[in-house]
Amino acid sequence: MTRTVLITGGTSGIGRAIAARFAADRAEVFVTGRTPDTVERTAKELQVHGVVCDATNSAQVEALADRLGALDVLVNAAGGLAPATTAPSLDALLSRWRADLAQNLLSAVLTTAAVQDKLTGDGSVISIGSIGAERRGGSYGAAKAALAAWNASLSAELAPRGVTCNVISAGYVTGTNFFRGGMTDDRHRALVEETHNKRPGTVDDIAGTAHFLASPGARHLTGQTIHVNGGAHTTR
Ligand SMILES: NC(=O)c1ccc[n+]([C@@H]2O[C@H](COP(=O)([O-])OP(=O)(O)OC[C@H]3O[C@@H](n4cnc5c(N)ncnc54)[C@H](OP(=O)(O)O)[C@@H]3O)[C@@H](O)[C@H]2O)c1
Repeated sequence: MTRTVLITGGTSGIGRAIAARFAADRAEVFVTGRTPDTVERTAKELQVHGVVCDATNSAQVEALADRLGALDVLVNAAGGLAPATTAPSLDALLSRWRADLAQNLLSAVLTTAAVQDKLTGDGSVISIGSIGAERRGGSYGAAKAALAAWNASLSAELAPRGVTCNVISAGYVTGTNFFRGGMTDDRHRALVEETHNKRPGTVDDIAGTAHFLASPGARHLTGQTIHVNGGAHTTR
């Protein structure tokens, strides 16, 4: 049966790779993003549905939910770093924290709340977290840590009706616009050096994990944070 999959932030990087992975399965895929041009281009290139929607805007998220019928998989991939500010004021600090929390936590909370009643009995909610939640992440890492905490309670709420809820905590991943051209060769080498397998993550590493989490083999896997980072942060 054809599955329906919604991917927020599906127009670039990790979200786009996840959209391509599910589209290859002949799922009916919806991707969102804030930029009309990239939404339209992605929809055309991947042969999926594109919807312009800012996942931090409750009215836009409600309008998105109204367009959807039954949903099998929700992937909360929208996120990113708030613009850096060197202004020393408390107002600048507050803006940065609010932007990171909105972008990386509230985006997932709002979208999930808007569509959760549409999730089918063997559905999946997959949210993209970050290694920054564990290490030196500042306001961005704090938002991703909160995402994992929220996911645990979401799982307790939705898993009784068969919906699994997991976070993929990604390490350093290339092939995205995340660093907005700001990655230096030295920083790249240092991040690769931290891994056990001595390579950066790829968008397909994350897409493969997302695809597995939505597969029949992962039905007892819920409430978890799955670390996909080549060993850069180990857990036990
Ligand atoms: N790349 C890494 O190394 C890395 C590591 C750990 C975690 N992550 C996480 O992975 C996720 C995907 O990021 P990426 O690396 O693939 O970066 P990316 O290439 O910049 O993709 C981000 C996507 O999210 C969309 N987006 C951003 N804010 C949005 C909003 N408020 N509403 C709707 N769409 C929004 C962007 O489109 P528009 O800008 O047009 O809206 C774009 O499609 C993020 O949650 C990020 O925090 C990335």
